[in-house]
Amino acid sequence: MMPFTLLIMILIAFPVSSNGGKWGYNGPNGEHHWPKHFPYCGGAFQSPVNFQPELLRYDPNLFAIQLQNYNLSSREQLTLSNNGHSVQLSLPSYMQLTGLPHRYSAAQLHFHWGTQNVQAGSEHTVNGKQFAAEMHVVHFNSGKYPNISMAVDKSDGLAVLGVFIEVGEFNPAFEKFFKYVNGIKYRDQKVQVPAFNIRELLPSRLDEYYRYDGSLTTPPCFPSVLWTVFRQPVTISLRQYLALATALYSSHAQEVAPMPMLGNYRKPQLMDNRVVLVSFQDGWALRGTLSVASPTQRRQVIQQLLQGDLADLADEKLHQLLPKIKRKPWAPKEWKNDLIHQQSQKQRNKVPGPNGKNLPVLKNTDPSLSLAKLGINEDALCFISMEKNVSFQLLRRHANEEMVHALKRVVFPELNLRSYLKCKSDLDLQTIRCLLRTRPTDEAAELEQSLTKATRTDRQQTMPLPRSMTPNRGSALTKLAGQTPITALKNAHNMFPPFYRQIPVEYED
Ligand SMILES: *[C@@H]1O[C@H](CO)[C@@H](O)[C@H](O)[C@H]1NC(C)=O
Ligand SMILES: *[C@@H]1O[C@H](CO)[C@@H](O)[C@H](O)[C@H]1NC(C)=O
Ligand SMILES: *[C@@H]1O[C@H](CO)[C@@H](O)[C@H](O)[C@H]1NC(C)=O
Repeated sequence: MMPFTLLIMILIAFPVSSNGGKWGYNGPNGEHHWPKHFPYCGGAFQSPVNFQPELLRYDPNLFAIQLQNYNLSSREQLTLSNNGHSVQLSLPSYMQLTGLPHRYSAAQLHFHWGTQNVQAGSEHTVNGKQFAAEMHVVHFNSGKYPNISMAVDKSDGLAVLGVFIEVGEFNPAFEKFFKYVNGIKYRDQKVQVPAFNIRELLPSRLDEYYRYDGSLTTPPCFPSVLWTVFRQPVTISLRQYLALATALYSSHAQEVAPMPMLGNYRKPQLMDNRVVLVSFQDGWALRGTLSVASPTQRRQVIQQLLQGDLADLADEKLHQLLPKIKRKPWAPKEWKNDLIHQQSQKQRNKVPGPNGKNLPVLKNTDPSLSLAKLGINEDALCFISMEKNVSFQLLRRHANEEMVHALKRVVFPELNLRSYLKCKSDLDLQTIRCLLRTRPTDEAAELEQSLTKATRTDRQQTMPLPRSMTPNRGSALTKLAGQTPITALKNAHNMFPPFYRQIPVEYED
């Protein structure tokens, strides 16, 4: 959280329209209006999403989630609060997740639910099915950031565990704090509750989950979340569900018209070329599950775009470059071979490239090191800085109403590239165009022509972008091969235009 006095100063210096930072789930403050005040809510890589079978990709490298220190002592107190949007339970930062790319520390957990009569209020959905409620256990990257405020707007800042909740059997673990909700009926009320074993709130199977790159599901909607949503739901009784759906208000105690806290879920968002990795392979949902190129092939594709022979890419093997244009059927053998290649690369030094030729291999196959060798910026994206920069540029062009699109144009290719390299997105045409900007114009133009042709034959799978999304020269990715955009941003820190409105960093997940 921003220090209170600073927030006051900012609000005085940059007054905003009457309902400024207020947001909710209905009416004039509802989710369709969020982007007006929180441009990332209208941007790329938003959450929640619907886990449709076509989006799922089995990943044999996803192991069971490992929890540390989740069994809290009852001598410890946790703060249960009503923040006007949800019920939230604070968690100590020594509770941690391991086995992910970074170390993540817990911060809080909270809920999204439906109404008294309609027991459908989960945010993520499984092939269109909405569960009664959903719990989010929010963690921040404590390997890299000192606290959640510093992490919340960084592309590698957060990891959230999502748990589907069904109405069924009574759940004694949830009762350990649900029994106190009558003490926090109104906004900003808090009570202290004895801690307990938080593991009991999670499903028994921690090895089956959906994994994708997404965002906070509430304003300011930063695309900073590594999502893990467990496949197996937990149950609570109808009485427990109704404790959430009928006991709470999003208004303050003294307000004359109390506003019940209900239906506090966001609807599924666009996929933006993302896919959903799954750690499990059985079940109806996975019939015909597809796979895209492996991490090694992906790095080679990017390497070729940045440094390789573009004429090679412009030939009929182009579909290898754009996995979404022609997907190969799921082939576990091929994936395994690729892993073997990775392990034996030190000796072999060459592997077959995506176009059948031998490409030079990056000696160290650790993805982060390889990326550094490709000249790709590995700093986390800092979303607040990017917003300030875009806002600054728009002000100069007197075009501030284009904020959402302009921000998306800068942020999307960066997110798409990072996510593509981690196998969690297909490579987007816009990203390829950005990468090609560092190349000799005639070669790039030739490849561009083939790309355009290739996408034209596959139009139904390629979402048309609004005209304003077409990247122009000077976007952040121009600098991929050289100076990092983040460095440029850091240097420009003192140049923010007076009209820029600092978003109060308020968030729930
Ligand atoms: C988070 O860390 C930053 C940097 O160390 C510090 O300035 C800020 O006050 C901290 N915020 C909170 C809420 O502790
Ligand atoms: C959690 O800790 C308590 C004591 O602090 C212990 O009695 C209990 O067995 C532990 N539960 C698990 C599942 O480890
Ligand atoms: C903002 O980002 C653009 C790239 O989109 C970069 O060229 C420019 O130097 C940056 N400007 C500032 C003021 O940070």
